[in-house]
Amino acid sequence: SCPPPARGSIPCLPRLPVLGSLPWMRGHLPPHLLFSQLAQRYGSLFALYLGPQYTVVVNDHQHAKEVLLQRGKDFAGRPNMVTTNLLTRGGKDIAFADYSPLWKLQRRLTHNSFTLFGEGTSRLQDIGLCLCAELLSSGTRGFDPSLAVTRAVTNVVCMLVFSATYHQGDTELQEVVLYNQGILDTIARGALVDIYPWMKVHLNTYTAVFMYTFDLKSIMDIIRLLLKKYNEILILNQGQRASGSEDEGITDDHVLMTAAEAFSAGVETTSSTLLWILAYLLHHPEIQDRVQKELDEQIGSDRAVCAIRPVSPVLISHTAITDSSIGGHAISRGTQVLVNMWSIHHNPQYWDNPDLFNPDRFLDDQGQRVTPSCFLPFGAGPRVCVGESLARLELFLFLSSLLQRLSFSLPDGAPLPNLEGQLGVVLQPLPYKVVVTPRAGWQGGAN
Ligand code: HEM
Repeated sequence: SCPPPARGSIPCLPRLPVLGSLPWMRGHLPPHLLFSQLAQRYGSLFALYLGPQYTVVVNDHQHAKEVLLQRGKDFAGRPNMVTTNLLTRGGKDIAFADYSPLWKLQRRLTHNSFTLFGEGTSRLQDIGLCLCAELLSSGTRGFDPSLAVTRAVTNVVCMLVFSATYHQGDTELQEVVLYNQGILDTIARGALVDIYPWMKVHLNTYTAVFMYTFDLKSIMDIIRLLLKKYNEILILNQGQRASGSEDEGITDDHVLMTAAEAFSAGVETTSSTLLWILAYLLHHPEIQDRVQKELDEQIGSDRAVCAIRPVSPVLISHTAITDSSIGGHAISRGTQVLVNMWSIHHNPQYWDNPDLFNPDRFLDDQGQRVTPSCFLPFGAGPRVCVGESLARLELFLFLSSLLQRLSFSLPDGAPLPNLEGQLGVVLQPLPYKVVVTPRAGWQGGAN
């Protein structure tokens, strides 16, 4: 259904009856850059028609905060699409399920199950150490670090979902990794994606869910494990729940869809972020030195290095579940809202030299960490990333283990990594090569 544009209208691209605004959106730019360009012309809040669907595009953090936080619940819906329904078995996942009490419960349970306590943290550390060892063993000649990084990050999700981790060389782990990559290739060929490129992110998850459902060999074992885990959490949560609440509504399908989604949402995002950071460190060896010095001086400090490269440049589409407003403009129920985080993270009004890799922008004069209010790499509000705390912990532990023990440099004569990246499901760096050498005191091995 296509709600009419609201009164006091937001500037809108022209449109044709069937194609909507598509003819005015042609070109080779990926959606986040295209939207940034259109924002120059139409203003930071503008609208367009994706086929028949009226869609508002948000390019600045004030409006993004209205959508995500101040009126977060109004905009916490997801668009209802045939593919979604089919592939998520009627929206039984988290990312693409519409707002409902059952979805809220499922999200809360999942969030709780992603919180790592003592043992989980030390297993995460072990996986980080295996990654160090693996990188070191391939290290002295230039090599592409992406496979080892992806395997380690996949292993973390295996730990969450299956309560089991694999050795880096395990064939089953390799299978899961290859499988995730196969999904990307499938998407690249999808006809729908050619018409609506921003749907890539949806298609990937749907395809992942779909294929997992049919591909995993020991599916029953996994479901049993997951149900056991969920039951434990349900018991833990009993104190917080109203009696007779919706948990009876959580079925095996919900658990399975959630498990599959942990892979599709949790692997590509985190591994791309790590690979971006390594790519930037190759460009800025002086920053690598500073981080290593800081690690040497203050092991146990909780400072983390951050880049502002958002790996999800446009958030998953939000939908108004009720009549609402953005920036004083009335928004009708059913309107789709796209938040372009890329524009927000590259706005020169708020970021000094936004294209520069400058971790100091996250430190105040006293060297204490500050988080600018327009820095929202995980989104915010009711739809904020479920894996945020896990991803932050994982990135911090992996990165500090790596840089404590190893130094990364360019192979002789190799070009610096390309920093433009390519948009797959997330914005990924193009492949690049590194040389890994142990730091003084760590020559004996990564441990
Ligand atoms: C949603 C970013 C890691 C699970 C999202 C969203 C963003 C995001 C921007 C969309 C928010 C919105 O629609 O407004 C990231 C980044 C990550 C990361 C930058 C790593 C660097 C993870 C991990 C997991 C995860 C490790 C799970 C293991 C999810 C799920 C959603 C989500 C389930 C859907 C939430 C909902 O619709 O309610 N993430 N994510 N993510 N993420 Fe992440």
